[in-house]
Amino acid sequence: MAFRWIVNAGLVAIPVGTTLGVLFGIDAQRQASGEPPLFTPTSTPGSGGSSGGSGGGDSTGGGGGSSGSVSDNGIVNSQYCQLSYGVSPPSKGENYTLNPNQWGVEDGVSGLCLNVTTFNNETYPTNTSAPAWSATWKYAQGPETQPVWAFPNIMVDDGLPVALSDLSAIDFDLLWTYTVGNTTSTSMDTSALDGVSLNANVAIDMFLDANATKSSNSSGAEYEIMVWFGRFGDSTYTIGNTTLGVIDTYNLNGTEFDLYYGKNGNDQNVFTWLTAETTSRFTGDLLKLITELTMNNTADYYPSGTDYLGYFSFGSEAYFADDYVTFNVPELSIDIQS
Ligand SMILES: *[C@@H]1O[C@H](CO)[C@@H](O)[C@H](O)[C@H]1NC(C)=O
Ligand SMILES: *[C@@H]1O[C@H](CO)[C@@H](O)[C@H](O)[C@H]1NC(C)=O
Ligand SMILES: *[C@@H]1O[C@H](CO)[C@@H](O)[C@H](O)[C@H]1NC(C)=O
Ligand SMILES: *[C@@H]1O[C@H](CO)[C@@H](O)[C@H](O)[C@H]1NC(C)=O
Ligand SMILES: *[C@@H]1O[C@H](CO)[C@@H](O)[C@H](O)[C@H]1NC(C)=O
Ligand SMILES: *[C@@H]1O[C@H](CO)[C@@H](O)[C@H](O)[C@H]1NC(C)=O
Ligand SMILES: *[C@@H]1O[C@H](CO)[C@@H](O)[C@H](O)[C@H]1NC(C)=O
Ligand SMILES: *[C@@H]1O[C@H](CO)[C@@H](O)[C@H](O)[C@H]1NC(C)=O
Ligand SMILES: *[C@@H]1O[C@H](CO)[C@@H](O)[C@H](O)[C@H]1NC(C)=O
Ligand SMILES: *[C@@H]1O[C@H](CO)[C@@H](O)[C@H](O)[C@H]1NC(C)=O
Repeated sequence: MAFRWIVNAGLVAIPVGTTLGVLFGIDAQRQASGEPPLFTPTSTPGSGGSSGGSGGGDSTGGGGGSSGSVSDNGIVNSQYCQLSYGVSPPSKGENYTLNPNQWGVEDGVSGLCLNVTTFNNETYPTNTSAPAWSATWKYAQGPETQPVWAFPNIMVDDGLPVALSDLSAIDFDLLWTYTVGNTTSTSMDTSALDGVSLNANVAIDMFLDANATKSSNSSGAEYEIMVWFGRFGDSTYTIGNTTLGVIDTYNLNGTEFDLYYGKNGNDQNVFTWLTAETTSRFTGDLLKLITELTMNNTADYYPSGTDYLGYFSFGSEAYFADDYVTFNVPELSIDIQS
């Protein structure tokens, strides 16, 4: 209880103008303070204690770790509408933590539910495959000083921090869509998304620092590197867009990325690689986008090859939409190879 109170105090205390990264240290904080992220499978969809939008900010749902070792091949859909705590489905391969992460919601009213599809046998298509997940949300437009309500995301649990010099690849495999309404779709209708004024991005968030411990701290790390695969609406702009503009471009396995740089409100150096076009399917080695920065290292705001990667997550920053929208991630694999 005491810990949960601290988490909430942290949420309220988040300074304006911070970015995605700063926002979600909460998983990390939870782990840092010795509390594992919670996982509470609900075998009857929608009926679990963790569903429903009325949970409020103190995250009283859940309560009690993994339910453990079932060995059949059942598939379970669980829904989580809480504001801030993460769930870590057990896996025989790489472990991930998923979090609705409604960090900007201060009145306790959930505007988002996150669905996670877990396998009872804890064995996903590959050793690095994540459970399929989606987030359905709707928020009104917030003040310019704090336009983001949530960053529903999935975070890599294993193998971090790691020295960049020990990494050989970060193989990333992704399929996502955004759809108007409460259901998922295999295709994307951007004019329908424009029709509900969707403002959101789809982004990877990484943190790096010369100090391994600090590299895992999303508010304390010196460098943040984001990779955006989608950007909807004018409220969703990259840091540095209006000052330096595009400072580099890189073609990674057929996808064109533009690089932006600026400092966030927390004085961290933020690099954003944004795809030239909305990219819902991507396969490639993200280490190349990091090396493009460390290799240049022409100014002290660039990370260097001796730094550590301490945090890696993928999700969508939710600004606003006039109707419910559903962000769906049916395929995701993050293979950090060292
Ligand atoms: C999420 O789960 C709820 C409860 O099972 C279900 O009603 C809803 O259709 C699911 N949404 C998506 C997008 O799968
Ligand atoms: C685990 O369960 C999933 C979902 O039913 C199934 O596709 C997969 O083949 C199973 N894996 C093993 C090793 O049994
Ligand atoms: C995932 O978590 C389980 C349980 O904590 C652990 O045994 C396993 O080694 C972890 N997987 C990896 C790849 O670290
Ligand atoms: C759509 O999803 C939201 C959040 O997940 C939920 O509050 C709302 O009741 C759903 N609407 C319908 C029509 O299912
Ligand atoms: C998956 O992990 C298991 C246990 O760690 C290992 O034996 C197996 O070789 C791995 N499979 C692949 C394709 O890497
Ligand atoms: C790394 O950072 C941690 C946390 O800020 C600090 O306690 C530690 O002394 C630092 N290590 C080095 C070598 O500077
Ligand atoms: C993370 O860094 C911030 C800013 O330097 C610091 O205030 C906070 O105590 C650090 N958190 C942890 C868990 O070390
Ligand atoms: C950059 O700012 C301009 C002007 O506000 C805007 O039209 C454009 O969409 C922004 N681009 C990015 C990548 O943020
Ligand atoms: C490049 O993308 C293709 C699919 O477009 C994929 O099959 C291939 O594995 C990718 N290459 C790398 C090095 O990731
Ligand atoms: C980084 O180095 C490459 C190759 O030398 C160059 O094309 C690019 O403009 C540099 N980018 C930055 C941001 O300095």
